[in-house]
Amino acid sequence: MYKSISALALTLAAALVAGGAVADAGQRYGFGQPATPAEVRGWNIDVNGLTGAGLPPGQGSVAEGQKIFETKCSACHGDFGEGAGRYPALAGGQGTLTASRPLKTVGSYWPYAPTLFDYVRRAMPFPAPQSLTNDQVYAVVAYVLSLNNIVPGNASLDARSLAAVKMPNRDNFLASTWGHDTRPDLHTVACMKHCTSGPVEVISDLVSLHVTPPETEVGDAGSMVELQATPEHAKAGSAAATTVSFSQVQRIILQRCAACHAQKPTQPGFASAPMGVMLDTPARIAAAARQIDQQAVQSQAMPLGNITHMTSQERKIVGEWIAAGAKMK
Ligand code: HEC
Ligand code: HEC
Repeated sequence: MYKSISALALTLAAALVAGGAVADAGQRYGFGQPATPAEVRGWNIDVNGLTGAGLPPGQGSVAEGQKIFETKCSACHGDFGEGAGRYPALAGGQGTLTASRPLKTVGSYWPYAPTLFDYVRRAMPFPAPQSLTNDQVYAVVAYVLSLNNIVPGNASLDARSLAAVKMPNRDNFLASTWGHDTRPDLHTVACMKHCTSGPVEVISDLVSLHVTPPETEVGDAGSMVELQATPEHAKAGSAAATTVSFSQVQRIILQRCAACHAQKPTQPGFASAPMGVMLDTPARIAAAARQIDQQAVQSQAMPLGNITHMTSQERKIVGEWIAAGAKMK
């Protein structure tokens, strides 16, 4: 029937492509069955806290809820939601959120009442989640809200009235309207490329922030330093001892010290150079070499609070310059 081998090949290829399309539709493996609407309903039980969308039909009263609570909840949460043992309290804590030990409960903390329905239906009672009917969930929810004086003792709740309940702490959640987060730092557009025109300068590292110990402190433990000391590193290190130039040192001192130690300090709060020590010209830097050594290499008392983020590598360079005679070249 096929006129040639290549026509057969083309037809086979077309069949394979068609087979792929079938696989995409999810029918290829021939097992399983589409979920029925009832199965989807049983699984799709989330409730929107803000709007109450997803709350099912049904209703329950505080009085009914009290009975259910006493048999199914109070063993863990206490008769009045005060919490038994280390199980969480569901009531109380109002006014404690700014205290050093805030008591966060449904009443003091939760922003949305429909969330309580979602949570209890989904997860409680702890040993038998999803064992309550929707009416029973409405009832215990009404009871827990009444324990917190949020609904009156004769209240009965359904989807509409529960969605209308305003929780006391609602307005203290900043993102109180979805999609309009009021936190000021969330609206900046992140820069992803060409973010700086000049060269990138590293102004701090984990060693100078005392997060990572300098290599010398790890030294005798051995392996760590050995691992890091690649031949390149080793070469650069020993070369530095002989090639530290004055301009290198000057750059470091101007960057790390001169904000304070200058004729006219630029560091806020400094009207004049502290203790008269000025490190803002080549001659002044060279003349102060011994003091620089004491303060920034030996004791490391300077820069003050390391506010200018001098790195241990920079201290090493300055130290080598001084050891080599603090020459101005
Ligand atoms: C066997 C103990 C136990 C029983 C019974 C129980 N709970 Fe809980 N409940 C817990 C535990 C434990 C948690 C905390 C779960 C977590 O944080 O993951 C909790 C959390 C809760 C919370 C959230 C508290 C919060 O502020 O985070 C609510 C609301 C709640 N339960 C309601 C109920 C209701 C209503 C019942 C009865 C229908 C019930 N629980 C029965 C143990 C229990
Ligand atoms: C934030 C400002 C600031 C920076 C930056 C700073 N210093 Fe100081 N420096 C001070 C202050 C304040 C004092 C006086 C300290 C005191 O009263 O004990 C001082 C004192 C000194 C002294 C005199 C110490 C003495 O007891 O004789 C020297 C030397 C010195 N700094 C060197 C440096 C060096 C080197 C750097 C840079 C590596 C540096 N400082 C960076 C604020 C700063």
